[in-house]
Amino acid sequence: MAIARVSQKDIQHAVEVLRAGELVAFPTETVYGLGANANNPEAVRKIFRVKGRPATHPVIVHVDHPRYLQRWVRDMSPEAKKLADAFWPGPLTLVAKRAPAVSDVITGGQDTVAIRVPNHPVAQQLLNAFGGGIAAPSANRYGHVSPTRAEHVREEFGDDIGVVLDGGDCKVGLESTIVTCVGDVPRVLRPGSISISQLREIVPTVEMGPGAGVPRVPGSTLRHYSPQTPVNVVPSRRLEQVMNEFTSRHEKVAVLALRPPATANRYMTWINAGMRSDLYARSLYAHLRTLDKAGAKIILVEEVPEGEKWDAVRDRLRRAATAENIVTYDQDIAAWVADFGEDGAPT
Ligand code: TXA
Ligand code: MG
Repeated sequence: MAIARVSQKDIQHAVEVLRAGELVAFPTETVYGLGANANNPEAVRKIFRVKGRPATHPVIVHVDHPRYLQRWVRDMSPEAKKLADAFWPGPLTLVAKRAPAVSDVITGGQDTVAIRVPNHPVAQQLLNAFGGGIAAPSANRYGHVSPTRAEHVREEFGDDIGVVLDGGDCKVGLESTIVTCVGDVPRVLRPGSISISQLREIVPTVEMGPGAGVPRVPGSTLRHYSPQTPVNVVPSRRLEQVMNEFTSRHEKVAVLALRPPATANRYMTWINAGMRSDLYARSLYAHLRTLDKAGAKIILVEEVPEGEKWDAVRDRLRRAATAENIVTYDQDIAAWVADFGEDGAPT
């Protein structure tokens, strides 16, 4: 759970750092963000440099309250307003037409802007004290696993960023649900903890996935959210069998499962993440980081259950495990994973 360990002095210092055009990593309820003054294009460019992120990939502007929206958004559709009322502050990002003053560095040159009001006491304090918008992607190197703890941010960047506000473990653990409200109907560009049913309770016309002509979201390229160790997703009934193929050759295997292992095995590191989708999501990235350090040949992830509440988890696992990344041990599964296709994988 998120426990704020940040003093007023820390917040004040972070605000000064932001005003000086430098970066501050801060907690949100989803993942940690790497923030810059959204009014300062030079500061926002630093985010891209530090992350190694292509300049064409837009970043989200965070504000503490919708009253600041008109600085960033030209007009909010009635649907966007309803969703904002229902879910802000919270793990929802809305894409709307940008206001004229928004820098191209933030929007990647598009005529839209992504905006979010996070629900985390430290993010709220920081935004409130700063008084403007903070542009922030997840605080990880491009293509890598998002951070859900302050120490993860340090692991990613070392001393490349001066200030990391420690707000404890992120409660949601997966990035926000992104809904674009530009176009015929609102569309979910990235699934998150707010499900499509929850969105449809507020706005019944919301559709899943980008429609034709909607610019692609960089987080939607495959090979994203990835550890260094190859990740394969394996059906539950095959898990032990696949694991044994490696361990019988004395190759180490790291496993993320929904249950305890059937038998002990000295060549395996096994994490039982349990069957509750919210708790699984909360720890997923921390578990992937732990398993990545196990010195294993491969990370095997037990396939998660069907159903909407697992959508966001399934989406991130699918991206962590890509065809390019796969260790071929089984033609069926390799084909099954390859089926997802490859669309311009970042490196
Ligand atoms: O939970 C989150 O959303 C976290 C926290 C820090 O707020 N942020 C986050 O940022 O995940 P990032 O940059 O890692 O992912 C933001 C996604 C990217 O895939 C980006 O392409 C998309 O939002 N995005 C930003 N602006 C957009 C726009 N104008 N139109 C479509 N997609 C946009
Ligand atoms: Mg990210």
